[in-house]
Amino acid sequence: MFENKHVLIAGGTSGINLGIAKGFAAAGAKVSVFSRKQDKVDAAVAALSELGPQAHGGIADVREPEQVKATIAAAAAAQGPIDVLVSGAAGNFLAPAVTMSPNAFGSVVGIDLNGTFHVLRFAFEHLTKPGASIINISAPQAWVPMVAQAHVCAAKAGIDMLTKTLAMEWGPAGVRVNSLVPGPIEGTEGMDRLLVDKSRKAALAKTVPLGRLGQVEDCADVAMFLASDAARYVSGVVLPVDGGWSLGGATIAMGHMMGG
Ligand code: HXC
Ligand code: NAP
Repeated sequence: MFENKHVLIAGGTSGINLGIAKGFAAAGAKVSVFSRKQDKVDAAVAALSELGPQAHGGIADVREPEQVKATIAAAAAAQGPIDVLVSGAAGNFLAPAVTMSPNAFGSVVGIDLNGTFHVLRFAFEHLTKPGASIINISAPQAWVPMVAQAHVCAAKAGIDMLTKTLAMEWGPAGVRVNSLVPGPIEGTEGMDRLLVDKSRKAALAKTVPLGRLGQVEDCADVAMFLASDAARYVSGVVLPVDGGWSLGGATIAMGHMMGG
């Protein structure tokens, strides 16, 4: 379905983003990923090379504009114009605002929000125009306030506004921009950091209307939908992939996640 398409995934070396990368690779895409750690990049490229036609890896900290610019340019030189761009690098930890240092707040906003801007800003010149699809990875925290998550709530809300403003700015160039919002996804770093008391996993699942935690494949399938021709008239949307969790259960779940 994505044969001869180049899919570039910022922060695509683990968890949900790697699951999305694997989905595209298995569907025939040339996939490029980058993140900070060489060992994670090498492992991801090896796994993606087994699934798809060709994979490419790079190193960059999304907080560093020049690194992002160079790494994206190298990916485009190696694999061609970018048909699908996924921006998913993120950081998270539980920290009440009253004890959170300015650098802690700035680190998460710097990775999630500034990083997303850097990735989109420096990928634009390499996008297939018209036709490219951009998917920003957001979180329910963008509109569901959660205690000890002030940094993530602020950053992800900002990402969703970037999605909407750039959908307006870049629509005339034939570029679609959407947010994909994972819910609580099992077996990921994000869940591990927020679910303090692991014995509460089953109780957490009950706060999801569909009655289960998500899987990375749930996100990969929707990412492929958003990137496909089936979504050709979809731009500027914030699409939850959360089993209905953000309708109310996410707020209830904070007790489980905080161990309270
Ligand atoms: C309070 C903390 C902290 C914690 C770090 N800091 N961890 N403060 N509680 N648990 C503070 C540090 O003290 C420091 O501030 C500042 O944050 C930066 O920390 P560094 O370790 O120097 O930063 P860095 O090496 O750049 O690492 C960034 C990071 C790290 C975000 C802190 O955790 C990381 O690299 N995370 C990437 C992986 C990740 O988080 N994945 C989960 C994504 S899930 P001071 O003032 O001391 O200098 C997600 C949403 C999940 O995003 C939603 C689920 C529903
Ligand atoms: P993860 O495995 O920790 O993935 C984060 C990725 O970003 C890794 O590849 C990491 O690789 C990279 N990264 C982190 N900081 C970076 C930086 N400064 N520069 C470049 N790359 C960086 O986390 P996950 O739980 O799967 O989350 C993936 C995405 O889904 C995130 O956007 C997250 O906010 C979102 N999300 C997750 C959940 C969930 O249930 N897990 C729920 C809602 C939203 P390196 O360490 O090598 O840099």
